[in-house]
Amino acid sequence: MRKTVVITGTASGFGRSSVRRFVKEGWNVVATVRKEADLQIHSDLENVRTLLLNVDDEAVSLDFAALALQQFGRVDALVNNAGYYHMGPVEAGTMKQVHDQFQTNVFGLIALTKSFLPTFREQRSGIIVNISSISADQGYPYTAVYAASKAAVAAFTEGLNLEMSNFGVTAKAVFPGLHNTRIFTKIDTSESVPEDYKDAMAAFFGANSSGSAPEVTADVIYEAVSDGKDGQVRYYSGPDAVAIPRARHLLGLPWYWEEFRAANTGAPSPLWKTLIPQGGDEVDMVV
Ligand SMILES: NC(=O)c1ccc[n+]([C@@H]2O[C@H](COP(=O)([O-])OP(=O)(O)OC[C@H]3O[C@@H](n4cnc5c(N)ncnc54)[C@H](OP(=O)(O)O)[C@@H]3O)[C@@H](O)[C@H]2O)c1
Repeated sequence: MRKTVVITGTASGFGRSSVRRFVKEGWNVVATVRKEADLQIHSDLENVRTLLLNVDDEAVSLDFAALALQQFGRVDALVNNAGYYHMGPVEAGTMKQVHDQFQTNVFGLIALTKSFLPTFREQRSGIIVNISSISADQGYPYTAVYAASKAAVAAFTEGLNLEMSNFGVTAKAVFPGLHNTRIFTKIDTSESVPEDYKDAMAAFFGANSSGSAPEVTADVIYEAVSDGKDGQVRYYSGPDAVAIPRARHLLGLPWYWEEFRAANTGAPSPLWKTLIPQGGDEVDMVV
């Protein structure tokens, strides 16, 4: 019997590539977009039903889960991919921007997860894959709020993995490095950035402009859903993200932090450049 996956945020990037990857592997896909104009985006693919969902709207989560179940009669996996990027020095962002970032990246993700858990628990199977970020492993400058939201996703996923382990239900998190998707073309930027920050911000984003193609992470999302490794929570994607936990282990935390700090305040050492490769695609970034 064909399995069914629900994937959020599929109009572009990892979500869109994941829809294609799952279809290629013979899955049914319930894909979500948040704009009516994107409802036809997967119309060239068979066994995909595209539904509208804004994950910020927690009240619709239960109804959405019921609708998703109706599409193919069953749901085997949920990929919480929808998310966006708030950028700017902490002092320059409004608290509304902070709340909005957590609403989409964290609270919406938790609400949708909650709406599928009773079904997964009762059917004694189900896989939830949450898209975190390598920035959950250590915060980067000018994106501290985004990093905090992704660290919340990581810790939530670990706790959920243990909590659901008696019921045959698995939760995992994917930690992508820098990828060339649409996310950096629609950044939510802090409105009034003091002049003091501008040179260092330009240097930071200038040094982080090379990443991976979205298919790299779509492959890892598919692996996380399908590899049967219930005890593994963390999956890293992209050469930078794969290298970071290894470098931390190799160097030990204090030395790793020293290198990471130097690299992200403008002066990466030759050692850092050797240890942490970047993806080969130029990232489309509107800062
Ligand atoms: N690209 C990277 O380097 C990178 C690295 C680490 C983690 N991530 C994470 O990966 C995930 C996918 O991002 P991406 O890079 O593939 O970016 P993307 O191309 O912008 O795709 C993100 C998708 O999420 C949707 N979305 C945003 N807010 C939403 C909401 N409130 N409700 C429903 N859908 C919403 C977007 O819809 P619209 O098209 O309507 O905006 C879009 O389809 C995100 O969680 C992101 O934080 C990305």
